[in-house]
Amino acid sequence: MSTVNANLTYNYKVVRQFAIMTVVWGIVGMSMGVLIASQLVWPAMNLDFAWSHFGRLRPLHTNAVIYGFGGSALFATSYYVVQRTCQARLISDGLASFTFWGWQAILVSAAITLPMGFTTSKEYAELEWPIDIAITIVWVAYALVFFGTIMKRATKHIYVANWFYGAFIITVAVLHVGNNLELPASAFKSYSAYAGVTDAMMQWWWGHNAVGFFLTAGFLGMMYYFVPKQANRPVYSYRLSIVHFWALIATYVWAGGHHLHYSALPDWAQTAGMIMSLILLAPSWGGMINGMMTLSGAWHKLRTDPILRFLVVSLSFYGMSTFEGPMMAIKTVNALSHNTDWTIGHVHSGALGWVAMISIGAMYHLIPRLWGMVEMYSIRLINVHFWLATVGTVLYIVAMWVNGIMQGLMWRAVNEDGTLTYSFVESVEASHAGYLVRMIGGAIFLSGMLLMAYNVYMTVRQKQAVAQDNAAAQAA
Ligand code: HEM
Ligand code: HEM
Repeated sequence: MSTVNANLTYNYKVVRQFAIMTVVWGIVGMSMGVLIASQLVWPAMNLDFAWSHFGRLRPLHTNAVIYGFGGSALFATSYYVVQRTCQARLISDGLASFTFWGWQAILVSAAITLPMGFTTSKEYAELEWPIDIAITIVWVAYALVFFGTIMKRATKHIYVANWFYGAFIITVAVLHVGNNLELPASAFKSYSAYAGVTDAMMQWWWGHNAVGFFLTAGFLGMMYYFVPKQANRPVYSYRLSIVHFWALIATYVWAGGHHLHYSALPDWAQTAGMIMSLILLAPSWGGMINGMMTLSGAWHKLRTDPILRFLVVSLSFYGMSTFEGPMMAIKTVNALSHNTDWTIGHVHSGALGWVAMISIGAMYHLIPRLWGMVEMYSIRLINVHFWLATVGTVLYIVAMWVNGIMQGLMWRAVNEDGTLTYSFVESVEASHAGYLVRMIGGAIFLSGMLLMAYNVYMTVRQKQAVAQDNAAAQAA
């Protein structure tokens, strides 16, 4: 517990709980990732049980990493940042605790129901209606705790990180309820309220904004607090932060159409999605540049501080994936990339390079402070983790670029008489080496997470040992 003035204590308990679960879900979700990556290399690893098949474990991977790992990191950091920047304790310890246990219960239900085959079949919104209702209730509680704390702040203005966290909370609420309107047929089966192409449009309005708000806006909130803190420098430009905030949230919600190029979605809507995606490059890079330039005058710290390295490299991956995304949204480029491993490479340059790296950096900053320590048990292990994460990410995305472009070219190659040059299975065979490299990259990334778990365990244990020593010294 830390104090800012004599009467103020923060609720760090819930932050500690979410921080630990970030590491736990990170390991669970990434182990699933390595498992499904292995299944694509060695199909026998599907094991011939329904519940262990790729089709059932893939959504388990995405739910565990996005909502378990990413979600816990967002809860932990938003609760930490909102208290410190508002100089106010969370409005209710009970409600905060409810969000922790509620969110974990939802994740456990996902881990049980997805392998059992219960799914709405909507990507990133697979969970069936009873769990959807639980998500809504927990999310409303989260909004009450977060915005309630902002309302009772002791500071005059609302720090920019909270703007991003706030936008993430509000937009995810609207999208979740909008996309998941469904008619229950039984306890574990429902039908979407929308039909045909409207259903697809709602789904990708949600899907793209799950990327834009769950996997981006919230993490930009993280960036705006932890980069300046770790670099010990003020944010480069507050004006830029305001401009790119409004530009980002005003543009993101229109871009979902790029997931439905060359589909039954009206052509103008596809083109609108493409144009909005191209515009999106500007606010995305505004954020990246603001983060990077915060290091002006502190670049030398990168040589000695692996936590700062995590944060800065995550920003470069953010810049890279938000350049790649708008390019892939151009219809003619998408004609090549769609349905290939290029998309998977793009996803993971955002997911591993940006989302995971910034969360890991933020956790290494946060965890010692939460347990009243000055720094993590081992800085050297953080450095090793940094290299494992970087090498793992690069292997993963390079393998997928090579596979993706090769698949796209093979699928469109035609002979002089107009017949296809390659059968589909030939493109699968040609992808084998890339799948192996991706699996190795993923395993390297995962091994870094295991080191992190050890480092966190030792940090917490060290703290307990110090507390015991103090108690013994007092008793003596
Ligand atoms: C050890 C690290 C990881 C490995 C080995 C891994 C592996 C995989 C594999 C094999 C797939 C299925 C690809 C396919 O269907 O062809 C996948 C999909 C996906 N993963 Fe990961 N993953 C990892 C980490 C992450 C993280 C940290 C996130 C998010 C924060 C993430 C988000 C996703 C998403 C969103 C998809 C679905 C992509 C799509 O449908 O286009 N992954 N992952
Ligand atoms: C300016 C920003 C971005 C734009 C315009 C953009 C655009 C795109 C496009 C065009 C696709 C391929 C759609 C398809 O062919 O099916 C895509 C897929 C995807 N992107 Fe991005 N992207 C951006 C940033 C990001 C970031 C930062 C992340 C992750 C943190 C991300 C995660 C994803 C995911 C998960 C998918 C796969 C969706 C699916 O099919 O399941 N994107 N994006």
